[in-house]
Amino acid sequence: MDRENLIRHAMSARENSYSPYSRFRVGAALLCGDGEVYEGCNIENRAYGPTNCAERTAFFKAVSEGKREFSAIAIVGGKEEMTWCYPCGVCRQVMAEFCDPDAFEVICAKSPEEYKVFTLEELLPNMF
Ligand code: THU
Repeated sequence: MDRENLIRHAMSARENSYSPYSRFRVGAALLCGDGEVYEGCNIENRAYGPTNCAERTAFFKAVSEGKREFSAIAIVGGKEEMTWCYPCGVCRQVMAEFCDPDAFEVICAKSPEEYKVFTLEELLPNMF
């Protein structure tokens, strides 16, 4: 799966975003070591605190299905127009639990053609 197609999966996941409070719609697509893709969206809550980010939705879906190897995640987000959307600190820590910091790619995208690629090490240096 190339980056462009992974971004398309993230855009498709964003369609299911449940975000009536922020109206900030996020989609993520997580590429597993075996080539499978898990999609996730943000899921908000009226109590705010229980809100789950798109990235963690994708990770928890995959881990709960037995996946343990991951190579990349694509992330798209924005209200109407797509803006640069970078993973929050909690999601970065969840990635750190399962991913090789020097190899795992975090692809932050505005479209299949416009994206930035980071390693997890760049986003969460000296991780716990
Ligand atoms: N959000 C994500 O799902 N992923 C991110 O990378 C940043 C923020 C969600 C949480 C909340 O539902 C909304 O975006 C606004 O913060």
